[in-house]
Amino acid sequence: MERRTSGVTACTAVVVGIGPGDPGMVTVQALEALASVDVVVGFDKGERAAELLAFRREVLDRASAGTPPRLVTLDDPQRDVDGAYAHAVRDWHLARAEVLERFLVEEVRPGARVGMPVWGDPALYDSTLRLLDELNARGRIRVDVEVVPGVSSLQLLAARHGIVLHRVGGSLLVTTGRRLREGLPPGIEDVAVFLDRSCSFTELGDKGWHIFWGAYLGMPGEVLVSGPLGEVAEAIVQRREALRRERGWIFDLYLLRRR
Ligand SMILES: C[S@@+](CC[C@H](N)C(=O)[O-])C[C@H]1O[C@@H](n2cnc3c(N)ncnc32)[C@H](O)[C@@H]1O
Repeated sequence: MERRTSGVTACTAVVVGIGPGDPGMVTVQALEALASVDVVVGFDKGERAAELLAFRREVLDRASAGTPPRLVTLDDPQRDVDGAYAHAVRDWHLARAEVLERFLVEEVRPGARVGMPVWGDPALYDSTLRLLDELNARGRIRVDVEVVPGVSSLQLLAARHGIVLHRVGGSLLVTTGRRLREGLPPGIEDVAVFLDRSCSFTELGDKGWHIFWGAYLGMPGEVLVSGPLGEVAEAIVQRREALRRERGWIFDLYLLRRR
């Protein structure tokens, strides 16, 4: 049905978690949601993401059973790597919002359902939902939002190591390598760390920490390492660097647990 709100066109963004890279972990609801859209849109994250793009393509092919929806890849604006982190991210999000807004206003018919596949789950370290909030705040287009959850890489990490992410009735801090380097709040004993290019666990010192690490989870070449941090940290650093060089990119995350 075509909708217009006081001259502002409207479409529906269907934000779909497609899991951590294993075709078997794409949910039935994710496939159904992607089969329901008129067009699929995503940002081009460059050469190093070719394997991730191939996986997205494979998921779309499966969803559509032969007639894939139109896939539009938007140029991802460059992020200022020299500027202060918070400002650089803010500017990058605004630039992305402009690119997406232009596409939705100029190239999508009012009332269309626009698929936005998201790696893992959209609620963890992904900016798609914030981007859509930004678009709605700007008011040039109204975007209704539907979210389909996906299996997160964090869930897969726990499954692969056969662990619960927290103690009985305990807490779990989910954070980034950057935040870990800034220091942990007092009393934290279980920490899940995403987006850590610098192996920040090496700065914790051996204070009874145990690490459960995983790279390329759910994908060919998956690697798992676990053990007391003091004993395995250096091996993880070296393994990570060797894998990154060999494959050209790496996705890894870990849980730190104080024993
Ligand atoms: C931009 S975040 C996206 C997280 C995603 N929304 C999720 O739910 O897994 C990317 C980070 O997630 C982690 N990650 C995502 N997929 C992964 C995988 N298959 N194996 C290991 N880590 C992964 C890595 O820490 C990577 O740097």
